[in-house]
Amino acid sequence: MVLSLPHSARLKYLSLWVLVLQTTSLVLTMRYSRTLKEDGPRYLASSAVVSAEVLKIFTCTLLVFIENNFSVQLLKEEIVNKPMETMKLAIPAVIYTLQNNLLYVALSNLDAATYQVTYQLKILTTALFSVSMLGKRLGFYQWLSLLFLMAGVTLVQWPTESEVDSEQKILSASSQFVGLMAVLMACVSSGFAGVYFEKILKETKQSVWVRNIQLGLFGFVFGFIGMIVYDGQRVRQSGIFQGYNTITWTVVALQALGGLVIAVVIKYADNILKGFATSLSILVSTLISYFLLKDFNPTRVFFLGAGLVIAATFLYSNERKPASNSAIKV
Ligand code: C5P
Repeated sequence: MVLSLPHSARLKYLSLWVLVLQTTSLVLTMRYSRTLKEDGPRYLASSAVVSAEVLKIFTCTLLVFIENNFSVQLLKEEIVNKPMETMKLAIPAVIYTLQNNLLYVALSNLDAATYQVTYQLKILTTALFSVSMLGKRLGFYQWLSLLFLMAGVTLVQWPTESEVDSEQKILSASSQFVGLMAVLMACVSSGFAGVYFEKILKETKQSVWVRNIQLGLFGFVFGFIGMIVYDGQRVRQSGIFQGYNTITWTVVALQALGGLVIAVVIKYADNILKGFATSLSILVSTLISYFLLKDFNPTRVFFLGAGLVIAATFLYSNERKPASNSAIKV
């Protein structure tokens, strides 16, 4: 059935499924890497971010070369000769860097469950930015499905009693407030940066790979500054690649792949559908961790949440009319 769809529609569904697979593998690999006990220093998260940006830039450059018979002309024309177009990508890059730092502040001041659950609000901020910046129109049932999706992911990630006991930290009210503000700001920044990137991709002619190189270049610069500021001392002592092992490189590769797939999803589908794909992958990775890793015991709350996520996905895609009206204001 999918094969009879037009090329762009096929890419839309294919990219969404690849995103589900990529996010699921990333979550499972990260979970697995945390359970490994290794001698020596742990790898620096800030360095993994920089490595993923380099890998992303390298892959996109290779793709642009292949598409253009290995000529450097297009890259020079699009990136060096059009500085204003390139500068447009500094905005989402700076916002994503701030977002990563905000999430770090949030995790240091909130327990992991509150953090994960509150961050689901980004589903709604993304929808609001899609409506206000792209002129997308959502029907009543689509809005309802977004509320179901948010509630569903919240319940799926609801901590079990044993998790609450093991994670109980003494967090002061002011620390909780700081954490909550940080995660709420990250929700706004996630929605805005994603929709801004979507607007650039859909309203200009540049290829998705060129746009990703531009985003990656700024991401690399800001990420590198972040690494020096946070971990400069440790980098000077033991180098950028301290503590790297096969699992670390797998996480880096999956993160870089994520950047590529997210860009394709934003181009051929949209940020709202990206939210559905990542919500489904939270469900899939939790189920895999139950069946394979055996480190999770699903509760009734989990099944209720899973049902809501699946129902929301059907509800959203069934209301076709307003979605097909969705137009990008130019
Ligand atoms: O939580 P959220 O969905 O906003 O996270 C998006 C992530 O995808 C960010 O970490 C951002 O750096 C990354 N991204 C990317 N390439 C793009 C768009 C987003 O690496 N083209």
